[in-house]
Amino acid sequence: MIGRDELLALAREASTRAYAPYSNFHVGAALQFADGSVVTGANVENASYGLSLCAETVAVGKVLSEGGRRDLVSVAVTGGAPGRAGQGATVTPCGRCRQMLNEVAQLGGTDPVVWCDGDEVVETTLSALLPHAFGPANLAKP
Ligand code: THU
Repeated sequence: MIGRDELLALAREASTRAYAPYSNFHVGAALQFADGSVVTGANVENASYGLSLCAETVAVGKVLSEGGRRDLVSVAVTGGAPGRAGQGATVTPCGRCRQMLNEVAQLGGTDPVVWCDGDEVVETTLSALLPHAFGPANLAKP
């Protein structure tokens, strides 16, 4: 298992692969699981702006489409101008991304720590970012 700074470094590396020609804001996310595996994502924008995908959403899509339940233990998110991820205002996951991350977390029954990069690195948890979350358990068959 790697710690905060190493996971943030992987998120920053992922941000260099962002496809963000419209906002020019390059975001990277790194999701670490209990088995030590890490899945990263970067934002993928579209000429039809509203279709753009956030870095965390891309990472969650990779995890769930690769199959298998994995316990999500930590998340790092970073963003900024190209080559400047982690500089400036702290980047926290947007509302939709919190919900996307919650899907993976609930499947594994974890409440991951979330490190948000910036001039000030904020450490929080998914449950603090998304209290009283709606998730897979709500739809479980009786
Ligand atoms: N973005 C992310 O990738 N994750 C977030 O949590 C916030 C926003 C992306 C979406 C868009 O491509 C760019 O950052 C500017 O909003």
